[in-house]
Amino acid sequence: MDHLLSEQQLEVKKVIREFAEKEVAPTTALRDEKSIFPVEICKKIGELGFMGVNTPEELGGAGMDAVTYAIVIEELSRIDPAVGVVVSVNNSLVCYPLQKFGNPDQHERFLRPLAEGKKLGAFCLTEPGSGSDASGLSMSAIKDGDDYILTGEKAFITNGIIADTFIVMARTDKAQKTKGISAFIVDHNTPGFKRGPNEKKMGIRSSDCCMIILDECRVPKANLIGKEGDGFKVAMTALDSGRIGIAAQAIGLAQGALEEAVKYSKVREQFGQPISEFQAIQFKLADMQVMTEAARLLNYSAARKKDMGQKFTNEAAMAKLYASDVVMKVTMEALQIHGGNGYLKDFPVERMLRDAKVTEIYEGTSEIQRTIIARTLLSN
Ligand code: CAA
Repeated sequence: MDHLLSEQQLEVKKVIREFAEKEVAPTTALRDEKSIFPVEICKKIGELGFMGVNTPEELGGAGMDAVTYAIVIEELSRIDPAVGVVVSVNNSLVCYPLQKFGNPDQHERFLRPLAEGKKLGAFCLTEPGSGSDASGLSMSAIKDGDDYILTGEKAFITNGIIADTFIVMARTDKAQKTKGISAFIVDHNTPGFKRGPNEKKMGIRSSDCCMIILDECRVPKANLIGKEGDGFKVAMTALDSGRIGIAAQAIGLAQGALEEAVKYSKVREQFGQPISEFQAIQFKLADMQVMTEAARLLNYSAARKKDMGQKFTNEAAMAKLYASDVVMKVTMEALQIHGGNGYLKDFPVERMLRDAKVTEIYEGTSEIQRTIIARTLLSN
């Protein structure tokens, strides 16, 4: 696949791979076991400029393309997809919509520190009662002079425990569905802002996830992103970009699991030879590689379309759907190749299988991706 990449993309891949192997890998297992957030690692990723990969340089980012962004998330996730998702949420779900819909004042006050890695962002769309049906959200935003008063609960907020800046979708008009939603920037220091406890997750355990409770939070009108009623569009646009990030997370993790399976199959001997000599294992490894490469191509295609300034909703949904399906199959097979050892925490494939599942769930379940793809197909 490297033959499709530019010199700059290859250089970034080298830099982030070395970083992940040197700075992330030594603590992946411990952070998974104890659910420790990668604070220092994220600080260093910020120093490398990868907290705002696509954000223009004049706004504090690296000013690189979406394919490079996919490469960054892949390489981090090859070693630790929990780190991958923290970086992906900040880039795709926070920096991207702020850049696209925010005004110059919001760019300076909020986007710049996020893109520079000095602050961390989170994206608040899901609620206890609205997940896949995102426009069914009920958090209210009531206008009061030059402010809005936000009240309600958000669920499954990645980076929620540690983030400084939150993009929050809330209802400004109860009579309308999607057009009644607005997007706000909420600082964690706002009175009435509360975080729930860190959720105990099956996988990506070193990234955090919690409820966010807003209890009559007074947010200035200056923090409204775009106009009243733009919030659903802001959220969907963010998720288009986010799905390239999650596809990249799945592809990186699949790549890591494939490499573990190859390594193990060469050293594990049964019936007098390394198990890699058995055709049953070779066929599995071949299929794992083909699937991973195909998912990568699909995701680079979505990223390329984004870079061309074209609508990429459908391509991102296809990439996310396929990559999350692939990572489930690849991590399952990687564990199978390890036999009994794969079921033990002594080998990374056990964590990898747990980490994989979430890619079929967050930023839209596989069923939601299929809905988007089918709607596009049928509307042509
Ligand atoms: N870009 C821009 N606008 C879009 C859009 C997009 N990708 N998708 C829809 N819209 C616009 C439509 O054009 C439409 O506008 P008009 O009314 O002007 O025509 C409006 O939004 C409504 O669109 P739909 O009728 O398609 O809306 P819907 O209510 O049927 O919902 C959906 C569509 C695809 C199912 C959407 O609800 C969805 O994506 N659901 C999944 C939500 C999701 O992914 N949640 C994840 C939470 S975040 C997360 O997981 C982050 C994390 O922690 C890691």
